[in-house]
Amino acid sequence: MNILLTGGAGFIGSHTLVELYKAGHTAVVVDNLSNSSPESISRVGAILAEEPTVGHPVEIPFFPVDIRDRAALEEVFSRYSFDACIHFAGLKAVGESVEKPWEYYENNIGGTLILVDVMRRHGCKNIIFSSSATVYGDPAEIPITEQCPKGQCTNPYGWTKSMLEQILSDLREADPEWHVVLLRYFNPVGAHPSGRIGENPNGIPNNLMPYITQVAVGKRAELGVFGNDYPTTDGTGVRDYIHVVDLASGHVAALQCFQPDFHSADGQPFVYNLGTGHGYSVLDMVKTFERVNGVPIPYSIKPRRAGDIATCYSNPAKAERELGWKAQYDVADMVRDSWCWQRKNPDGYQR
Ligand code: NAD
Ligand code: UFG
Repeated sequence: MNILLTGGAGFIGSHTLVELYKAGHTAVVVDNLSNSSPESISRVGAILAEEPTVGHPVEIPFFPVDIRDRAALEEVFSRYSFDACIHFAGLKAVGESVEKPWEYYENNIGGTLILVDVMRRHGCKNIIFSSSATVYGDPAEIPITEQCPKGQCTNPYGWTKSMLEQILSDLREADPEWHVVLLRYFNPVGAHPSGRIGENPNGIPNNLMPYITQVAVGKRAELGVFGNDYPTTDGTGVRDYIHVVDLASGHVAALQCFQPDFHSADGQPFVYNLGTGHGYSVLDMVKTFERVNGVPIPYSIKPRRAGDIATCYSNPAKAERELGWKAQYDVADMVRDSWCWQRKNPDGYQR
């Protein structure tokens, strides 16, 4: 298939490019580079040259386009014919979304409305949307199945995901030609095992794993652990960390939803949790990082972070049953590959 990747220069998008080409697909990337560098796409080309299933350098078509720019998107759609779109583009910093809600709603929701309008005008009605476990709010059940009701989000970022799920589902309800796949990611970490591509956060990282790797590389003095009085084994928050390469291959597996003979058992718009089904605490991650990489991570306990929940992990059985997808990497792989990327690229794509 020929796939449009919005936000394809970013963390998850760049890893998905690798897995798409390995599986024999082709892709075109649009990204406004607000949180990424085009260097990631060149590096994907270099990784593919060494992949046995590809074996030659690949120049991936890239357009520095903002999805809110209808004319620029139209231009891309008039040059290529797409079988589907994997829609990663969006702003994703939870704290920033509280300070700039308008910017988040305008970029994430406004951008998606323009994207789907241009798609349908060009007869492309297959979309995979990057959703998040955040739509479950404080989950009604653990492990979380797709049947678990959506909950109250605690920030505008989360609401953009929840609302976009609704908008895309309504679109599909009104027009059965639309095929909409909602992938609810748990906590993506890790990097391509080559260490060539990885997560490249701007400024102080919000998320646990890039913060740990920046402490390890000496950019930050210590990790703040947000709360040790949660009702969990060691009092710190528990999450379902998933290797970004597994997450990427989940998108390739989800493309089968667009085959005419594909049916989901619950008949709903295709919603899948992408997680491992295992929960690890903050201190589990710190200790695993230290053990696997042999690097100490100094930390101190800080107050709870507003909006955090105690425990969040998936039941990923539906994706295995229907898509034949299951996470392959464990937490040791995740901390090893995160560190390999950070060590080889202390300033991300800047050098
Ligand atoms: P990322 O910031 O690395 O990638 C998103 C990309 O979208 C960036 O390259 C950015 O430049 C681009 N972008 C943003 N707004 C755009 C616009 N208007 N037009 C064109 N490009 C635009 O983030 P990521 O971690 O790769 O996340 C990808 C998607 O997955 C996002 O939608 C994110 O909300 C979602 N998601 C991420 C996580 C996570 O923890 N990383 C968890 C759940 C869901
Ligand atoms: N944490 C710390 N110190 C830090 C950063 C995080 O102790 O410096 C803790 C948090 O309190 C939490 C755990 O590490 O217990 C994971 O926090 P992250 O910020 O890495 O991830 P979240 O689970 O808060 O959120 C992530 C994404 C969201 C997404 C959500 C889905 O950032 O976009 O997963 O579950 F919606």
